[in-house]
Amino acid sequence: MSSNRVLITRQIPEAGLAPLRAFGADLTVLQTREDAGVTHEELVAGVRGCDVLLPLLTEPVDRTALTANDRLMGVAQMAVGFNNIDVEAATELGIPVSNTPGVLTDTTADCTWALLLATARRVVEAHRYMAAGKYNLWGPNLFLGEDVGPGGSGEPKVLGIIGYGRIGEAVAKRALGFDMIVLAYDPYGRDRVLRSDYATWAELDELLERSDFVTLHNALTDETRHMIGEPELERMKPTAHLINAARGPVIDEKALVRALREGWIAGAGLDVYEDEPVMAEGLADCPNAVLLPHIASASRDTRGLMASMAATNAIAHLRKERAPNAVNPEVYDTDAYRARVETS
Ligand code: DGY
Repeated sequence: MSSNRVLITRQIPEAGLAPLRAFGADLTVLQTREDAGVTHEELVAGVRGCDVLLPLLTEPVDRTALTANDRLMGVAQMAVGFNNIDVEAATELGIPVSNTPGVLTDTTADCTWALLLATARRVVEAHRYMAAGKYNLWGPNLFLGEDVGPGGSGEPKVLGIIGYGRIGEAVAKRALGFDMIVLAYDPYGRDRVLRSDYATWAELDELLERSDFVTLHNALTDETRHMIGEPELERMKPTAHLINAARGPVIDEKALVRALREGWIAGAGLDVYEDEPVMAEGLADCPNAVLLPHIASASRDTRGLMASMAATNAIAHLRKERAPNAVNPEVYDTDAYRARVETS
């Protein structure tokens, strides 16, 4: 039996497939249609017959999937976020898990800014108006939005960044061009903020109260789930905009719909959703929400880089070497991992 079997859950860019083929891996791609996902049963059945799993954020790699195969040598996720994987169970079972950090930082920061500018200046609403042929006279009150830079007033706007990792900092760096005051809060990264040239530390309440734009860049954890709910939305300015290109459940989406409808905040730009791909009832009808289908890292170059990085990690898992981007590197020192290496 081959010991180089890689199960890839969905169609990934060729940049990820080529190095795996060159290594001599025996590849199985579970997904048969681009628009159809993979069921949990298909995933578990596939895991039984592979040495390394290469999933995407759309597949829950839970304990059931991880225990399906005693010889599974690694999970090489093609994404920086890995909240779909039960990493605690993987570590306990001796399975290394890897991700694709760094290569998508700039692309995601760019898209965050696209959302921010689009919601501030009502770009999507105005586009719909044009496309519907409604524009017949210039008007001084047509699609009034918010300044992002100081505008004519000379007063800088405040950008509040929640979650100050690589992406949060790249978003802050881009704010320099808009002469903004940048505040940052991160429950796990106070030191990073304090060391940064681009942002000033603020506690969450202060950040929410002072910011004209609040943007989320934290990982989804028990602590960050619903970090932005009714009390936090009520604390924001009625002219403020909320951006989320991190993970949907960081926001209580039902509360956000209320906030958008009732004018607690002026607008939102979202790339991710609490129950993705489903949106909270009423969200799609909010004219002040700009909605994207989780595409913040979707540039051609970046998706290729993510795929090739996942392939590099997968090859390391196959070789039983330390993966360059292991998220649970402590696993390599466990008896459970050593037992897997011996039996595989
Ligand atoms: C990630 O990598 O976690 C993004 O959400 C998708 O690129």
